[in-house]
Amino acid sequence: MAQIDVVLEHVDKTFPGGTRAVRDFNAEIEHGEFMAMLGPSGCGKTTTLRMIGGLEEVTEGRIFIGGKEVTDLPPSQRDTSMMFQSFALFPHRTVAQNIEFSLKMQGVPKAVRDARVGAMLDKVELTPLADRRPHELSGGQQQRVALGRALISEPTVLLLDEPLGSLDYGLRASMMVELKKIQRELGITFVMVTHSQQEAMSMADRVIVMSDAIIQQTGTSREIYEAPRTRFVAEFIGKNNLFKGILASRSGSMAFVENGGHHYYVKVPDYAESLPLGEEVYFSVRADLMHTGVNEDMANHVEGAYVTSEFMGSLETDVFEVGKGLYVHVEQHRSTSDRSYEIGERQTICWSSDAGVLLV
Ligand SMILES: Nc1ncnc2c1ncn2[C@@H]1O[C@H](COP(=O)(O)OP(=O)(O)O)[C@@H](O)[C@H]1O
Ligand SMILES: [Mg+2]
Repeated sequence: MAQIDVVLEHVDKTFPGGTRAVRDFNAEIEHGEFMAMLGPSGCGKTTTLRMIGGLEEVTEGRIFIGGKEVTDLPPSQRDTSMMFQSFALFPHRTVAQNIEFSLKMQGVPKAVRDARVGAMLDKVELTPLADRRPHELSGGQQQRVALGRALISEPTVLLLDEPLGSLDYGLRASMMVELKKIQRELGITFVMVTHSQQEAMSMADRVIVMSDAIIQQTGTSREIYEAPRTRFVAEFIGKNNLFKGILASRSGSMAFVENGGHHYYVKVPDYAESLPLGEEVYFSVRADLMHTGVNEDMANHVEGAYVTSEFMGSLETDVFEVGKGLYVHVEQHRSTSDRSYEIGERQTICWSSDAGVLLV
């Protein structure tokens, strides 16, 4: 069985002012895993990360790191290291001195320090810049210094709070690749907080999606993208079309949802099995599983009027209004040789019986 590096058991946080920032948070993070906590601003990500690092006390619950309970231990006894969005480098120290800092504080002998700093400079590819000061570095280079400084103490777990937040768009994309590569090479457990779906989905092995102090779903990027569990996740992640209706009947893992005289086939995941018949439910259909045109193989269809398109290279997302104020996004490969839709033109939009997923 894989070794578990971080466990959070029923962790709750209420701030003195009364804000309940985290509710009943449960997670197990494996050794060497890259875990992301993803959610909108204010949902409790930073608070959770700070509780793992010991910078914030828990109100309830327990935290384990490396198999040891650390709930009441100070940060220095937790075997974690934290990297912040503002890299907080020492401006008057060189790159090497910044990275060396915590070793010096711990009283590690100079010969050992030099060897470890040398190895870390190599790892984060800063050896040629070892004698520069932070202001002589680019944003990406500063970020690598911050990473080297956080990793030099060889923590079991590195905690990263919006680590790419202060970089501009182009640099962020390349740092995503680098951060992931360094994490893989070092085999250190990373727990990263981000509000960016792209960052979480492209770097993390698994993602914890949060909203409003609670965990909505934990899973691999693919699981969360392909099978959102809740209405929140379906709206927050990817391009999902959300539908509402009455749960009319069920047969095994399939159900009919009725709306305006239409019946839609939807899949019923096991966690949605207890939803009662006759009640209002939501289901989602990914935009890339939607097609325009009549197709007899597709069990579901709606009529809609073309509104607009968004382009992403060869991928096009066409938007249709299927009811007053109700829009359906259809993501498909279309080329310049395909006819453009006219605004207001009516199209049939269809999807297969297993493309719709019931949400809880
Ligand atoms: N020190 C604090 N005192 C009181 N409330 C706080 C404190 N820190 C954060 N909060 C509140 O807790 C909630 C979660 O904050 P935070 O964990 O920073 O969210 P996120 O990192 O997801 O944006 C917010 O409502 C925030 O205002
Ligand atoms: Mg935050």
